[in-house]
Amino acid sequence: MALSINAWAKFRSFREKYGDPDLIVRAPGRANIIGEHVDYCGGKVMPFAIQQSMYFFFSKVNAGNEYIYLDCDADSEHSDGSGLLKKLEAVLLKHQIELGNFRVAITSDIPIGGGLSSSSALCCGFIYGLNELFQKDLDKTDIIRYASAAEYGVGVKGGLMDQHAVVFSKANKALYLDCNDHSFGYLDLDPELFQFELWDTGIRHKLMESKYNNRRETLELAMEELSMHKGRKLDYNEVKPEDLSVLKDPVYRLRIRHVISERKRVTEAKRAIETKDIKVLAQQLNASHESLRDNYEVSWKEADWLQAKLIEHGFSLGSRMVGGGFGGHLICLKNKNAAYDEQELLCAYKRQFGIEATKREVRASSGIGLIRSAELL
Ligand code: GLA
Repeated sequence: MALSINAWAKFRSFREKYGDPDLIVRAPGRANIIGEHVDYCGGKVMPFAIQQSMYFFFSKVNAGNEYIYLDCDADSEHSDGSGLLKKLEAVLLKHQIELGNFRVAITSDIPIGGGLSSSSALCCGFIYGLNELFQKDLDKTDIIRYASAAEYGVGVKGGLMDQHAVVFSKANKALYLDCNDHSFGYLDLDPELFQFELWDTGIRHKLMESKYNNRRETLELAMEELSMHKGRKLDYNEVKPEDLSVLKDPVYRLRIRHVISERKRVTEAKRAIETKDIKVLAQQLNASHESLRDNYEVSWKEADWLQAKLIEHGFSLGSRMVGGGFGGHLICLKNKNAAYDEQELLCAYKRQFGIEATKREVRASSGIGLIRSAELL
C-alpha cells in the first residue's frame, strides 16, 4: 500500500519542514454492504475498508507532544473541539500504557462526517502508530477497544463495526462480523461482478451523536418491553413481526422492525454474495435503505432522492445510505450497463438541493498498516 496522491503531496511539504518521519501509518475508511444499525444489538454486518484513508506521520521527539493537521483539524471536527485524540491519550494512560514524546502529522482522504468512519480511522490509526513507535505490544483487539472507548468519551455510543473494519479488512473481501461475540470471517467479493460506488450527498452529519444515541436507547427500551411481556430476556433473533403489536409506542415498533428485518437481509445478502446472485444482493440493499428511511428514520432527504434516482435510471442495481445516517454517502451496486448520463443526474441534484453530489469509486481494500518508505519513491 502506498500513499495516495493527496497524501503524497502533503508528505512532501511536511518532509521539507520536519525531515523523514520515523513511521507512516495508513488507516482506511470503511463502507458497509449491509447490516446498518445492528452492530450495537448483536447483529451481523458486512463492512469493507476503502482505499480512501487517513495517513499519520509519526516521529519520536525529546519533549512535549505535537499534533499537526495537514488539511483540516480532524481531531476537533470529530469531537466538536474537545479533542478525540486527547481522550484517546487519557484512555491509554488509564490502562497504564506509557508513551514517550511524539510528533504526529495527519492528513485525510476520508471526508469527515460523511458516514465513512473517519473517526474510527483517526482513533485506530493514532493508537496503531503509537503502539509501533513505542513498541507497546498492544494487539489489534486492544486497538479496537481503546479506539471505541475514546469515541464513547466524546459522546458517540457506537458499536464496534467501524473499528473492526478499519483494523481487520482485506483486499477484495468483505468482513463478515458477528457483533454478538465479535468473531468474523471474510466473504470473497468478485471484483468483476460486484462493483461498488459511493455517492456523496454533500451533507455532513456534524453532531449526530444525540440522534444516534437516541436510536440505540429507544431500541433497548423496546426490547425491555418485549422481554417483560414474555417474562424473560429476549434475543433479537427470537422477535417476530407479529410480536410487535404488544409494543404501545408506534415508534418502538418501527425501530424493532428495522432491526429484525435488517438481520434477515444480512443473511440473504451473504447468500447472494456466495452464490454470485447480484439481483438478490441489489434487492437487499434497496430494502435496507427503505427500512432505514421508514422504520429507523436515519436517512435524509437528499439521500432518499438520490437513491430513488439512481435506481430509476438504472444507474445502480441496488443502493442504500451507509453508516450512522443523517448525512454522508450512499453505497451503490454499480450497473455496468447503465446508459444514463451521469452529469445529467449530478446537475439535476444540484438544481434540486443547491449543493453538489460527488461520485467516489471504491474497492474493498486492506486494513490498517504501515507504509514502508520504499513505497514513497
Ligand atoms: C456508526 C457507528 C457504527 C454503526 C453504524 C450504523 O458508523 O459507529 O458502530 O452503528 O453507525 O450501522
